[in-house]
Amino acid sequence: MPAVASGAKSDDLQSGNDAKRFFNLGYNTPMSISLDPNTRSFELFKRAQEVVAGGVTSIVRGPSAGWLPYPPMIQRGDGSHLYDVDENEYIDYVLGHGPLILGHRPRNVTQAVAEAILEYGNMFALPYEMEQQVAEKIRDRMPSMELVKFNNSGSEATHCAVRLARALTGRNKIIKFEGQYHGWTDATEYSYQPAIKDLGPRTAPRTIPAAAGTPMEFAQFVITQPWNDADLLRKTLHDHRGEIAAIITEPVMANSGVIPPAPGYLKFLRELTREHDILLIFDEVITGLRAARGGAQELYDVRPDITVLAKALGAGFGVAAYGGSRAVMEPVARDEILHAGTYNGNVVAMSAASATLDELDKPGTYEHLERVSAKLATGAQEIFARAGIPVQVQRVASFFQIYFSSKPIREYRDAAQYADLVKFRKMQVALRKRGVLIYPNGLGRWFLSTAHTNSDIEATLNALEDAVPEL
Ligand SMILES: Cc1ncc(COP(=O)(O)O)c(C=O)c1O
Repeated sequence: MPAVASGAKSDDLQSGNDAKRFFNLGYNTPMSISLDPNTRSFELFKRAQEVVAGGVTSIVRGPSAGWLPYPPMIQRGDGSHLYDVDENEYIDYVLGHGPLILGHRPRNVTQAVAEAILEYGNMFALPYEMEQQVAEKIRDRMPSMELVKFNNSGSEATHCAVRLARALTGRNKIIKFEGQYHGWTDATEYSYQPAIKDLGPRTAPRTIPAAAGTPMEFAQFVITQPWNDADLLRKTLHDHRGEIAAIITEPVMANSGVIPPAPGYLKFLRELTREHDILLIFDEVITGLRAARGGAQELYDVRPDITVLAKALGAGFGVAAYGGSRAVMEPVARDEILHAGTYNGNVVAMSAASATLDELDKPGTYEHLERVSAKLATGAQEIFARAGIPVQVQRVASFFQIYFSSKPIREYRDAAQYADLVKFRKMQVALRKRGVLIYPNGLGRWFLSTAHTNSDIEATLNALEDAVPEL
């Protein structure tokens, strides 16, 4: 029996099995990619496929995410650069999909982690002081997080946040937005990059499990909406009065490219959720510590009820957290909500987070991030303008995306319909050949770090200028 059902029509989705693919857009883009097949990367990738399912340990690292015909096998990372096993050197803008805000192997964080585990051990299964120190440092930059709990990944932490909202309200449904990603759990894994034909009407989008194995029944707990549309959301909440526990949102959409909130939209979400007495969850897994020192909630001056952090919190070491006001976190503090995890708050995670937050607090950090990010995004925009290729370069702080589109991208449906993902893939391949690494899916984004220098940016812009004729 095949593991994944096939042949279902799009109007006949019974389960995630029928949604079939996590990446529906930009997948299998019809273009041949001429990368040398006689490389050690390819050889190792083929060998990996014999023992590691699919050859990679996260879906975003393999061919289905666009690393075609095979991903580069990495030997080491250093600062803003990655080196593969074929001695290719890349300026890296994937940056582990966001965590590496200090670049690869940041000396002070790496040293702090090594010293901590050598000095104390790596886990105790009992509390210790470093947990409270990290919690204090988080609260200092995000006052909305009066009480926090630690997890190991963003997926776990968002799952906990949704559970908390359900427990607080006694309601089961949540609202999430099309094209946003909140991790791979059954709580939120819906309508991430659905195929256009599956989306349903914009005024009543379908909730589509992101991949096989998620029962369609679970989707009844998730109402999906297009982002940045205040009127529609107001109506939807009105129609579902008394059913909704929370609205969960990335405060800047960073999983369908980069889509900033329309002016006033986050404040609108804050007011609307108050009006309906439901919780506002900001998934700041990408934006926290990146959009600003205090995350997107500082940048846009909106305090959510629950915040989720991960990625940059550990500069590449696995650590996540969720938190809110004392009142909101009360059921967690009283152990009415299960919060468990063998590795929660382990010494590697806590020492990494502590040292990362200290590094980010050094003078000039955010100014540097802004300078290199603006220089790259503006430079890219100018190159495409000179070449007469219409693009939208949408940036917030140290992450941005280039959409090959003549129209601005304000929500997932815009990205799915207007962005030319084939052209994006061509750009990615052309840059990869020229020593610049970006994520191949045109609905990803470019990340920058404190390790990126002016000369990295100049080299990247030169590579881009050189690559343009290949598009
Ligand atoms: C906004 C957002 N939330 C949650 C997650 C899940 O985090 P993790 O991969 O650490 O489980 C991600 C991962 O990319 C993310 O971008």
